Amino acid sequence: MLILGRNPAISIAEIRAKFPNSKICAREKEFAIFENLEKIDLKKIGGVIKVGEVFSHSLKFTPQKVYEFFAHEFTGKKGKSVFGISIFPENFATLRTLLVGSKKFLKNEGIASRFANKNFCNLSSAQSEFEILKKNGVEILAVHSKAGWWFAKFKSVQPFASYKFRDYEKTFRDARVGMLPPKLAQILVNLAVRDSKSLKIYDPFCGTGTVLTEAGLLGFENLGSDIDSRMVEFSQKNLAALNLQSDVFLHDAREKIQKKFDVVVSEGHLGPPRKTIPEPQVRAKIFEELKNLYENFFGWLDCRRVVICFPVYLENGVPKFFASSEILPAISKFGWQVRNTEKLIYSRENQTVGREIVVLER
Ligand SMILES: C[S@@+](CC[C@H](N)C(=O)[O-])C[C@H]1O[C@@H](n2cnc3c(N)ncnc32)[C@H](O)[C@@H]1O
Repeated sequence: MLILGRNPAISIAEIRAKFPNSKICAREKEFAIFENLEKIDLKKIGGVIKVGEVFSHSLKFTPQKVYEFFAHEFTGKKGKSVFGISIFPENFATLRTLLVGSKKFLKNEGIASRFANKNFCNLSSAQSEFEILKKNGVEILAVHSKAGWWFAKFKSVQPFASYKFRDYEKTFRDARVGMLPPKLAQILVNLAVRDSKSLKIYDPFCGTGTVLTEAGLLGFENLGSDIDSRMVEFSQKNLAALNLQSDVFLHDAREKIQKKFDVVVSEGHLGPPRKTIPEPQVRAKIFEELKNLYENFFGWLDCRRVVICFPVYLENGVPKFFASSEILPAISKFGWQVRNTEKLIYSRENQTVGREIVVLER
């Protein structure tokens, strides 16, 4: 069982790319149940919050299964046992029933326990890490849909502290070039490398080097360039701060490079930052410039797969105007086709410019 990040379609696409032999059995907004999923290392997957191992599936809600599972886990343990439960979609009343019911059941079995949930809310990633994993506790992930209830034993949680460190403690940042969250950069890399272990990655719009950093941390050789010498320097310094090697150089992506690489992974150039949706004429001009940029770039590109973001303007959080509608027809003449089956939109609350992630192959 996987508890997914805020953009579930993106999380699912990442898992499918990394684990092509896994089969999805159920999927809702916040979770997915997979069969044949190998052990997932959450340090290497950006779109998953928690992983659990399913121990029960039934059409009806069966709290007894939860109580008995805890009792089985804690039998013979010394001291007070710590447990927790998280339900998706979150439901305070059911959570309360399960927490209070479990405590009572454990008491009747002679097991002293306390639950880590506060105010009958789900456990956050930090609570799962510090209250459950660090204290040898047990958390149950309970998910439900029309297809019934699944209960799973929580196994691992995303390394939230190191993502935060790589994001906010980055040596050189520049809000004007936009800041790609490290998690999203990791997802972009995974969408491109799929289950390969040794591809060379190129980011032609590297900015402060987030993609290069994440590619390096995932063990992939990489190179990057940017048209802005300040960005080249920022990337070099950010990589050096983490002891990572990369070849970063000044270059206009519209022109061919002679260096070799296997795949392109990039946030791309998203056009000017915007607080509001541009008027139609301004928008047409921005999209035309982006089309020209990408037409030149894809025209010389000599590789098989590209994962890149194109800007999309959002109205009240809803994607409205896609730059890809101009760019994709222009690059299809070079043989580039979209391979992702679902639209993959990454946006944050109150953002006007979102990112449409496209996986292109030829
Ligand atoms: C959205 S930012 C990338 C930010 C980057 N992902 C990061 O984590 O900092 C886009 C970058 O594209 C660069 N850029 C714009 N036009 C370019 C071109 N023609 N060739 C190369 N780089 C370009 C900009 O200088 C900017 O650094």
